[in-house]
Amino acid sequence: MRNRVILIIVALLALIPNNARATRVMVVSDIHYMAKCLYEGSDLFIRALRAGDGKLTQHSDELMEALAHEVHERMPDALIVTGDLTFNGEKESHIALASWFESIEAEGASVWVIPGNHDINVTTARGFNVDSWYYTESVTPEAFRSIYADFMKPPEGKANLSYTVEVNDDLIIPMLDVSFYQGGAQTFGMFLASHADWLENTLQHADGATAVTATHHNLLPHTEFLKDSFVMMGNESMLNLMKIYGVRLNLSGHIHAQHIAKSDGVTDAALGAFCTWPHRYALLTLEDGTLTYQAMSLSQDFLPEGFLSESREWAEQINREKVSAALENVSDENRELMADYATRFNLAYFSGTYRSDDPSWKADPAYALWSAQKENIFWQYMSLVMEEHNGDNLYCRIE
Ligand SMILES: [Fe+2]
Repeated sequence: MRNRVILIIVALLALIPNNARATRVMVVSDIHYMAKCLYEGSDLFIRALRAGDGKLTQHSDELMEALAHEVHERMPDALIVTGDLTFNGEKESHIALASWFESIEAEGASVWVIPGNHDINVTTARGFNVDSWYYTESVTPEAFRSIYADFMKPPEGKANLSYTVEVNDDLIIPMLDVSFYQGGAQTFGMFLASHADWLENTLQHADGATAVTATHHNLLPHTEFLKDSFVMMGNESMLNLMKIYGVRLNLSGHIHAQHIAKSDGVTDAALGAFCTWPHRYALLTLEDGTLTYQAMSLSQDFLPEGFLSESREWAEQINREKVSAALENVSDENRELMADYATRFNLAYFSGTYRSDDPSWKADPAYALWSAQKENIFWQYMSLVMEEHNGDNLYCRIE
């Protein structure tokens, strides 16, 4: 009797079509990896990071090791990396990062990359000695293509590095290289007529598969405060094509904030930078035509003890120092309250957990103190963000 039940279950399972299995993709952006040989033992490098935006670049290898563990645990069909692979385009960093991708592929997930604005022809690529720095070699588009030969497949002879990942019969991901690096890397990105021709041709041959596009620069504006140089030029043309061919989702990065923007049936999911707390990555699932996007963060289980709390403290310290320095004519007591508030706000916004419907932000005593600082750049940023709609920036479901 028991054997018969098992046989019936096996027979029923065989009736389920193969494509009923969900397709799962991991996404990561703005790794800003730096090869250890370029900064090991350098106090100057740590000081340079301290003056920056909270990148935890001095722990690049620990972060990549943790990512490899996450991939091993989740076994996605692919890992997509949407640019800004390196700290500032150093060739040594690209080579070392490609080795990490090899290890990740050994776990069974194919890895696919596109460059960002910090990856190719970066004239300010630097290495650091204990107390001095030197220029180091960056990479040309050809060198980039050769270092990541196993992790991208742009057509031979093309200057642009766009290509399509065929994850399986159900999902394709056109990876659009919209960064501008001819004659030196630029911050902005551009969706050109050549991109439009290529994307349209790709979508015409999608063969019934769902298409999700990927770019480094943003397809849609995510905040008024960070719009210029973040939204790619020519985005309207890309949006039009997406609407015509029913492409519902673009995966981007660049802004370093975790944020989901929607316009006219198209979603642009900007992924928080992997290099800063809380070290975001995303899980994209396609099942029965429905896409779900869930932002995650690295698990402490795969990191050295206390890593995530130290990473948060590092980001808090950098934020607090910057805000304190920008506050004039306030008492020490108020400075502390205001710096603490702005730090909490900034970390919440960039990690994607700030919600404009949370009344506690405006009820906080520091809010009133900040309101009197109309000329302060931090207040201008916070007040602008507070006026915008910020709902769930970690999850979305797209039918
Ligand atoms: Fe970046």
